[in-house]
Amino acid sequence: MFSETAKKELEEIRLKYPNARAALLPALYLAQREFGWLSPEAYEAVSSLLGVPKAITRGVGTFYAMYKHKPMGRNIVQLCTNVSCMILGAERLVDFLKIKYGLEPGGTSPDGQFSLVIMECIGACGTAPAMLVNDDFYENLTEKYIEEILEKYK
Ligand code: FES
Repeated sequence: MFSETAKKELEEIRLKYPNARAALLPALYLAQREFGWLSPEAYEAVSSLLGVPKAITRGVGTFYAMYKHKPMGRNIVQLCTNVSCMILGAERLVDFLKIKYGLEPGGTSPDGQFSLVIMECIGACGTAPAMLVNDDFYENLTEKYIEEILEKYK
């Protein structure tokens, strides 16, 4: 189920930690990158390759919001709508994403390009509104800037 490249990467991750359980967070992140989300099969693969019980693997994975448990779009947009971002227009940006891309909070655009996750503060209050697209961080967002950003991911 894991590609050979991903298996090798998982082995390298495992070697950086004192035991297999300690390697679970990056291993699950790798699985999510490999499969797009953490399906029961993805948990099974991580448990099997690391030799960690499935209950432990799933317990760790379901604790953190950064792991996705349903199929997602090819790119994950994580937009903060907490106080600073809200004051500086994040709710208007949510409406913009809905109208322009058909992107509802918690949903995926009809073309499968993007999924939208509404976040609490992501630590960029001074340059709000802010968002992540996959692992890339963006701040001082406007509708026009979001359009430019998302164009790069198509
Ligand atoms: S409130 Fe949005 S980054 Fe802090």
